[in-house]
Amino acid sequence: MTLYKRNACALVFLILSIFFNVTIVQGKFTEYHNKHLSRELSLSKDGKDNLLLPFDVTRTPGSNNSLMIQNFITQHFQTNMKNNWTIEYDNFQENDYNFTNLIFTLDPKEIRQDKDKKYILFAAHYDTLVNIDGFIGAVDSAASCSILLYLSQFLDEIIYEDQYLIDKIVEDNEYGIKIVFFDGEEAIDEWTETDSIYGSRHLAKKWLKDETMSQIELFVLLDLIGGKRTKKITEWKIKSYYKSSHKYYQLLSEIEDNYLENENTIFTKKELFPTDVLYLMMNKVLIEDDHVPFYNANVSILHLIPFPFPEAWHTIDDKFDTLDEDEIQRWAIILSEFAIEVISG
Ligand SMILES: *[C@@H]1O[C@H](CO)[C@@H](O)[C@H](O)[C@H]1NC(C)=O
Ligand SMILES: *[C@@H]1O[C@H](CO)[C@@H](O)[C@H](O)[C@H]1NC(C)=O
Ligand SMILES: *[C@@H]1O[C@H](CO)[C@@H](O)[C@H](O)[C@H]1NC(C)=O
Ligand SMILES: *[C@@H]1O[C@H](CO)[C@@H](O)[C@H](O)[C@H]1NC(C)=O
Ligand SMILES: [Zn+2]
Repeated sequence: MTLYKRNACALVFLILSIFFNVTIVQGKFTEYHNKHLSRELSLSKDGKDNLLLPFDVTRTPGSNNSLMIQNFITQHFQTNMKNNWTIEYDNFQENDYNFTNLIFTLDPKEIRQDKDKKYILFAAHYDTLVNIDGFIGAVDSAASCSILLYLSQFLDEIIYEDQYLIDKIVEDNEYGIKIVFFDGEEAIDEWTETDSIYGSRHLAKKWLKDETMSQIELFVLLDLIGGKRTKKITEWKIKSYYKSSHKYYQLLSEIEDNYLENENTIFTKKELFPTDVLYLMMNKVLIEDDHVPFYNANVSILHLIPFPFPEAWHTIDDKFDTLDEDEIQRWAIILSEFAIEVISG
């Protein structure tokens, strides 16, 4: 999808809306974000709708806090959604720890025969480091988890209410959605191939066996998103790492452009640079993370992680005061709009 096409669509909608009073899709999303964002992704307004502050606890695998967060996430999908999401717990034991991945699936109107189903997957890890006492993991990855909760509710509501969109998804045979919260991304002692990414290794194995793996069209991984920028703008980038997902990276960058142009902040806040192709040319795993077992299974990966990492990364300073509310909210909007574009084709 190109920028030209998106603008052309917007123009057609504008003309239609003048003559036929059709709702402009873009405008509708703004309304959604205005209504939800400041309550749900706020660092100051605590309340039952807040999706971010409940993560302000340690979340080591198998701990009571971990169970509490699992319940919080699951309840979001049970009580805040209008559609019926399928809920799966992937429990297992390794290295004397209990781990639990959480998987939430939405199939708009059961559009496909099982074998043809394709999904866009959004993931983050909810566990925190064991070997730093009291480690909260605000950018690593509480903020990313809260963005996924927001994104899922956004998709849920838009898909539920927008009959035009549902028809389009059904007609065009487009995608269902999977939202995955991984446990055990962090090493227990020191990062090695066998002491890290426990949850994603386990789920990938399972999905290779039951063939879910072949249904994943795109795997979008959020990590270390939402921190205050302590580096110069030129050093703060979310790079395009893989050729197979570069077209999705470009689409996300166009959405980011549109958003920042409206805000007049394109020169200060832009983080995606599609023409910065150094990493893309290498086209291999340079940053190990939960995507690796899926990458090895030939799934297309969009790894959204700033590089270099935020300064508080893997230190006790990775607390909620290192988060930037504006940054979190912006990524929530941009990724929500990206998700709608991708699933509706
Ligand atoms: C976890 O919760 C259970 C039940 O509430 C309690 O018995 C146990 O002591 C708690 N464990 C820790 C480590 O706090
Ligand atoms: C969800 O499932 C219930 C029970 O099966 C059903 O009555 C309801 O219509 C479903 N809702 C949607 C939006 O599909
Ligand atoms: C793992 O969970 C099982 C079942 O809930 C429990 O019996 C066991 O003690 C747990 N193991 C650890 C290491 O926490
Ligand atoms: C991934 O692709 C490579 C190269 O085409 C192939 O050798 C490998 O078997 C594939 N792996 C899976 C899990 O499909
Ligand atoms: Zn980490």
